[in-house]
Amino acid sequence: MPSLISRPAQRLAGAAKAPGDKSISHRALMIGAIAVGETRIEGLLESEDVMRTAAALRRMGVDSVRDADGAWRVQGVGVGGLAEPEDILDMGNSGTSARLLMGLIATHPFVAHMTGDASLRRRPMARVARPIERMGAEVRMRDGGLMPLTVSGARSPVPIVYELPVPSAQVKSAVLLAGLNAPGTTMVIESARTRDHTELMLRHFGATVVVSDTNLGRSITVTGEAELTARPVRVPADPSSAAFPAVAALLAPDAELTLPNVGMNPLRAGLYDTLAEMGADIRVTNRRVEAGEPVADLTVRASRLKGVRVPPERAPSMIDEYPVLAVAAAFAEGTTRMEGLGELRVKESDRLTAIAQGLASCGVRAEIDGDTLIVHGGRPQGGARIATGFDHRIAMAFLVMGLGSREPVAVDDDAAIATSFPGFIDLMNNLGAKIGA
Ligand code: S3P
Repeated sequence: MPSLISRPAQRLAGAAKAPGDKSISHRALMIGAIAVGETRIEGLLESEDVMRTAAALRRMGVDSVRDADGAWRVQGVGVGGLAEPEDILDMGNSGTSARLLMGLIATHPFVAHMTGDASLRRRPMARVARPIERMGAEVRMRDGGLMPLTVSGARSPVPIVYELPVPSAQVKSAVLLAGLNAPGTTMVIESARTRDHTELMLRHFGATVVVSDTNLGRSITVTGEAELTARPVRVPADPSSAAFPAVAALLAPDAELTLPNVGMNPLRAGLYDTLAEMGADIRVTNRRVEAGEPVADLTVRASRLKGVRVPPERAPSMIDEYPVLAVAAAFAEGTTRMEGLGELRVKESDRLTAIAQGLASCGVRAEIDGDTLIVHGGRPQGGARIATGFDHRIAMAFLVMGLGSREPVAVDDDAAIATSFPGFIDLMNNLGAKIGA
């Protein structure tokens, strides 16, 4: 396993161009696949996870190619036009590919088999199987609702009203995508708001999506048997990836970074709100809207942070950012309490445990109390080797830790980083970080 060491850095400076948004990239490929015509995507994230989606769609008859200028072109087959895959769909490490494609397949009259890597084969899939079975699909899974699994899509799909039992944009999206090929209207109700990239992109492609507030929460309705029209998409930089250089800049003794074109969807921006409350010097300029998504440029300077309480309601808007927030909290003055983190246990690894163990091995006092993570800040010692458990965000978070701690921090395996942020090490080193073998 290729291990890496991150050594304390003095100054970070320059422009950090984070790669395209992972969530939006998956959706651009999938919704482009079921539109009529050719969809051109600029700024698509070319990471392993997103390439799994492209490959799976190719197996179901959807061509996509990368042009010399870096844009991707997807040849849509229309709603209901996917073809039965001749072989098993391998989703690798990508929960988003697996769950959203289960939804798309659910209302196509064919059988698809799906598997993934060791991490994905441990993650819960019943949360998608349950609603799509109500729509007429049949799903066979391993004990405990695990992959490999088989989806037999419905021949006569039924629209449903589905109240989300967990705050998950993946489950919401799976149901909405399934609803596109069912007659009538399909409704999802969420008591906690989750990222709305699917809703925004479906509208961008001409679907009828109605959002309203009810006494149970927010309801999202999609009109089925829709006709989607190919539309150009520009993918903003991923706020979840930009979080790593941003926090690195906050912790360095001296830093000024610019982060251009970062997605600022309010349902994704919880980390930036939290860092501002902690006293971070982050300036947001040039706010604009591209393909229905808010974006802005950020300037981040080295800052003295203080501990805060992060309320559970905020968790869905920063669910992927807790590893790097916990690292920021380790450098803050005082204690940070992060509440409502139950979902972190079923991410690419059990992140709650991985964060607490990693912090402890770097000499940081951290406790888990139920679904709350408590981090006591200071000046971390570092000097540890972190077991990443093939989790990209654990690897990147602890490499950021090494830039600011007294002694270097090593990670046991850097391979997972390519699932979401290929080029992370070069980008960081170009800014002044010292990450190497
Ligand atoms: C995602 C939703 C979140 C997030 C994941 C991407 C999406 O997962 O953690 O990285 O693109 O919809 P959940 O839906 O499981 O919360």
